[in-house]
Amino acid sequence: IMAVQISPSILSADFARLADEAAAVQNADWLHVDVMDNHFVPNLTIGLPVVESLLKATSLPLDCHLMIEDPDRWAPGFAEAGAGSVTVHAEAAKAPVRTLRAIRAAGARAGLALNPATPVEPYEDLLGEIDMLLLMTVEPGFGGQRFLDIVLPKIRRTRSLIDRHGGRVWLQIDGGVSVETIERCAEAGADVFVAGSAVYDSGDPAAAVDKLRELAEG
Ligand code: DX5
Ligand code: ZN
Repeated sequence: IMAVQISPSILSADFARLADEAAAVQNADWLHVDVMDNHFVPNLTIGLPVVESLLKATSLPLDCHLMIEDPDRWAPGFAEAGAGSVTVHAEAAKAPVRTLRAIRAAGARAGLALNPATPVEPYEDLLGEIDMLLLMTVEPGFGGQRFLDIVLPKIRRTRSLIDRHGGRVWLQIDGGVSVETIERCAEAGADVFVAGSAVYDSGDPAAAVDKLRELAEG
């Protein structure tokens, strides 16, 4: 049995009340922070200064998802600041092995993210360098988009790949995760679930986290 983890995305939270929005999901495992630079994705969100403030404002570990160009330059700084996990996109990293090692050396878990159309097979040899593989189930850039079912076969293939390598690497799913879609993702082999709008647009974020966890646990 896999341990299910829920990582609410503050992209759908009220940015003027981030400490309260973090406190509203204390029953979650992580707080997912979407860092966007308006180059890798067509949206601009938050950066290191906000992450540094959030680290002081919440006891939840931060799960930083960097949707930026030149993650090789920026990712180690998020780990050094105290993020629990730092994930870089394979499409953007020019020196992923060096960057993933720098994240780990700074004491954080290292994640590698793949867009919906990026195949997982070329990255098999990097499994030993990472603690989490993130499969995007929407095109990155915005919350509230519709879940892309076409990624489900890749989730299954990735689960087999990870299990063949000992099953240590976490498999995270991000985009369109809701009460409608989380069971399919869990059945396909995901174990860490990011949810933004499904948590923060629900009226009761903590109850939404519990409900998503219950559905994913089956
Ligand atoms: C999208 C971000 C997601 C986003 C998910 O590019 O990476 O983390 O917050 O939002 P929902 O859960 O609403 O699809
Ligand atoms: Zn994200």
